[in-house]
Amino acid sequence: MTIAVCPGSFDPLTLGHLDIVARARSLFDEVILGVARNSSKSALLTAEQRVEIARAALGATPGLEDVRVEIVPGLLMDFCREVGAAAVVKGLRGGADFDAELPMALMNRHLEGVETVFVPGDPALAHVASSLVKDVARFGGPIDDLVPAGVGDVVRRALVDRAGATPTTEGTGR
Ligand code: PNS
Repeated sequence: MTIAVCPGSFDPLTLGHLDIVARARSLFDEVILGVARNSSKSALLTAEQRVEIARAALGATPGLEDVRVEIVPGLLMDFCREVGAAAVVKGLRGGADFDAELPMALMNRHLEGVETVFVPGDPALAHVASSLVKDVARFGGPIDDLVPAGVGDVVRRALVDRAGATPTTEGTGR
């Protein structure tokens, strides 16, 4: 039984993330989506919201219903040791992703000997990033075709709750 962890901020989960989880699931017996904290980013959604979104999206995606969703409370490698993960899976949209991911992969291997498997994502989703999704939504643009069903509403609501945000109340579509 080989377990892999797909870690990330998932703020919010996008169709790009789902694509990578599906590819990970095709490679490993068990996949855990780990909602972690990136200390260089400040999250829009709470960890609980991000977990809820991921559980709903995976539960509604054929073939991914058995992917577990857990909060990574601290160091990713502590979590991997606790769950017995043999690998971390990360998606690559392009060279910039690789440049950002390689130091983390090397650090994780240094810490715990856990390998990172890099998986190229669907090129049709290469422009999909949580940060861009939030930025488009912040200025009232349509995001519902970039995220799983219902996630757009959660993001728009969170932006409204934040002082100074000016999103529209619903997606405009395209
Ligand atoms: O989606 P992201 O923000 O690119 O994912 C980065 C993430 C959350 C996976 C990374 O920051 C992480 O592993 N955070 C947990 C804390 C940790 O282990 N930090 C050291 C990483 S080498």
